[in-house]
Amino acid sequence: MFSSKHFELSDIPDLSGKVAIVTGSNTGIGKVCAIQLAKKNCQVIVPSRSEDKGLAAVADIKAITGNEKVEFIKLDLLSLQSVKAFAEEFKSKHDKLHILINNAGIMLAPYSLSEDGLESHFATNHVAHYYLTMQLLPTLISSGPSRIVNVSSFGHNFTLVSSRSLDNINDEKGYSRMIQYGFTKAYNILFTRELTRRLEANKINNIYVNCNHPGVVSSELSRHAFDQQSWFSKFYNNHVAIPTEKGALTQLYLATSPEVESKNIKGEYYVPYAEPGCANAFSKSDKNALDLWNYTEQLLKEKVPDYKGAIF
Ligand SMILES: NC(=O)c1ccc[n+]([C@@H]2O[C@H](COP(=O)([O-])OP(=O)(O)OC[C@H]3O[C@@H](n4cnc5c(N)ncnc54)[C@H](OP(=O)(O)O)[C@@H]3O)[C@@H](O)[C@H]2O)c1
Repeated sequence: MFSSKHFELSDIPDLSGKVAIVTGSNTGIGKVCAIQLAKKNCQVIVPSRSEDKGLAAVADIKAITGNEKVEFIKLDLLSLQSVKAFAEEFKSKHDKLHILINNAGIMLAPYSLSEDGLESHFATNHVAHYYLTMQLLPTLISSGPSRIVNVSSFGHNFTLVSSRSLDNINDEKGYSRMIQYGFTKAYNILFTRELTRRLEANKINNIYVNCNHPGVVSSELSRHAFDQQSWFSKFYNNHVAIPTEKGALTQLYLATSPEVESKNIKGEYYVPYAEPGCANAFSKSDKNALDLWNYTEQLLKEKVPDYKGAIF
């Protein structure tokens, strides 16, 4: 399933002077990303909805790497007000941002709504990360060259077997956990492509926006569907899935490798290990990308009264 590795953790360059945010870095693939960035002297922000989990992860990362520039800031992606507060706190403390890894996600969760009345996969995996990115974009531009990595999934292919659409994405009627996950992961690809198109159209050339499938990785991602202590989860995590260190490679490549700039890699979907992948037709449709952008902009204007809209 995976090609041979042309990028290793040891290939991450020195990141002294760089600032990174990795959402979902209190555990799983995101935590490995935060550790590896910190090892290379990057200043890393660890957002978490739980202060206990966030501070514990920060303590771990500092102990493992010896890098003291690792910081927790509270972020609950199920609340647009929390996203706003996170961005404001970050900007009050930092005037530079070089790497944004939109990694946090949920999968196979039972139907529920966010604080803003959005279905929870849609809210977490797409809308909150879109809003976060829009608020941080001016800082990413002024800090350029900078990187944005949107963590998608092979699961974006579940869009092939459903007619769910933006018209009913928040509805309980017709809800399927797997399909919903798939659509939100396709949205990660569409967002990557439309953001890249707009940056290029506005001659903003110093941001490299890409997305990836990390692989089938041993983590807590299936926690909403399976008891993590069950024999099935243990067998799956120990014998089927790859370890998080390998799962983090592709997004770390897109976030740090000098090759991304030398090869001008933008708007692409990468797969393990750090190789160009092939997204499905739904996720490559320019119309779908534009529709998603316009839908999300309209939604944010309704849900966040002082949202001024994307900069372009
Ligand atoms: N593992 C795989 O096989 C696989 C395959 C394809 C794609 N992916 C993608 O990889 C990414 C990372 O997944 P993972 O495998 O590392 O999963 P994980 O171990 O479950 O980690 C997910 C992270 O997202 C955070 N998160 C979830 N909801 C949040 C919210 N409302 N606010 C703030 N943080 C929230 C979690 O925080 P809490 O601890 O507070 O919940 C956790 O830190 C996801 O986007 C996933 O879709 C994973």
